[in-house]
Amino acid sequence: MSGKANDEKLNYLIEQLAEIDAKGLRTNIRSLESAQGAWLQIEGRRVLNFCSNNYLGLAGDKRLVDAATVAMQEYGFGPAAVRTIAGTMDLHRELERRLAAFKGVDDTITFQGGFVTNLGTIPALVGRGDAIISDELNHASIIDGIRLTKADRYIYRHADMDSLEEKLREASGKGYRAMLVITDGVFSMDGDIAPLDQICDLCERYGAISMVDDAHGEGVLGRGGRGAVDHFGLHGRFDIETGTMSKAFGAVGGYTAAKQPIVDWLRQRGRPFLFSSAMTVPDVAACLAAVDVLEESTDRVDRLWENARTFQSVMRELGFDLGQTATPISPVMIGDEQLTQTFSQRLFEEGVFGTAIAFPTVPLGKARIRVMISAAHDQDDLEAGIEAFARVGRELGVLKA
Ligand SMILES: Cc1ncc(COP(=O)(O)O)c(C=O)c1O
Repeated sequence: MSGKANDEKLNYLIEQLAEIDAKGLRTNIRSLESAQGAWLQIEGRRVLNFCSNNYLGLAGDKRLVDAATVAMQEYGFGPAAVRTIAGTMDLHRELERRLAAFKGVDDTITFQGGFVTNLGTIPALVGRGDAIISDELNHASIIDGIRLTKADRYIYRHADMDSLEEKLREASGKGYRAMLVITDGVFSMDGDIAPLDQICDLCERYGAISMVDDAHGEGVLGRGGRGAVDHFGLHGRFDIETGTMSKAFGAVGGYTAAKQPIVDWLRQRGRPFLFSSAMTVPDVAACLAAVDVLEESTDRVDRLWENARTFQSVMRELGFDLGQTATPISPVMIGDEQLTQTFSQRLFEEGVFGTAIAFPTVPLGKARIRVMISAAHDQDDLEAGIEAFARVGRELGVLKA
């Protein structure tokens, strides 16, 4: 069969791509020609960066770059095998100890990223004969982690404690070996915070294990950015925190922070730990430097919040709808997918990089430009961004003229 005829087997994918194009749902990935920071070089132009998860401005920070460079001179670049087979570098263990001290937990285990952390942690902890009780808006990595288990699934309405209790009551009557309640700490598309204190109370009442994915709480919430559990003062009560070092920490990697038996078990049964190579040397060294920066001072976390409050209050005064956010995540709600794509394109022409987020990342009809405020922005940056939003908002009828 000729190559061309053979390619007919891919027609269904070509048709699906045409379908998402027609609905304005194809993700347009821009190439960055500079390091992450408040401003970026894209397509030869300098644009204001309103969409990275670089909460604390650490992704391009010299201390992280220097730490990675020095570590590579000693340890090389790659770990060259999985840790259980080729041994673990002392650098990885040092990071796990430093993270445990930072988070105020018994121990941590690192994985290659936040997504993989959930894929590795959830199926290692529960299986057939157990129950998982999950918020309906949990992140894709939690949903996929749940799909990898044979545990029974219960989905509760978003952040609704009556609904969670109803599911716990229903599951309690079934004699499961273990019940695991999972929630995002900060919901990444809306910026609202899960009521971890109430979730913790309910888990204790029903004997369930509590787990939070703190990807957007790390470096943002709690004392000096220690995360959502710290924000609610739940140390020693909340069982499991999973996190990422690809957002506030400015590098790449993930971890589970928990009580000792949980971490010990993950070192025996966490599949991405057993069957995939460890974090790279520069990432580990950069993460260690990020912990140093966070432990040194709260300046960056304080600046992040100051910037977020300024941006959100001015945008609301202008008439933009920022939904239920309680964190620096600032979703500018537009609704229609095509209009949101046009809004994003016009912003780009005005020198602001703000990506349109649409289905399947958020429900149909709830498209938005999700602005990610960073400690790297200064007042002039925020003003420039707000002016561009106001101009485009009036032009496209999202704001009254
Ligand atoms: C809640 C949540 N969990 C996990 C992840 C994945 O983290 P990583 O990018 O480190 O794989 C993300 C990132 O988008 C996230 O928002």
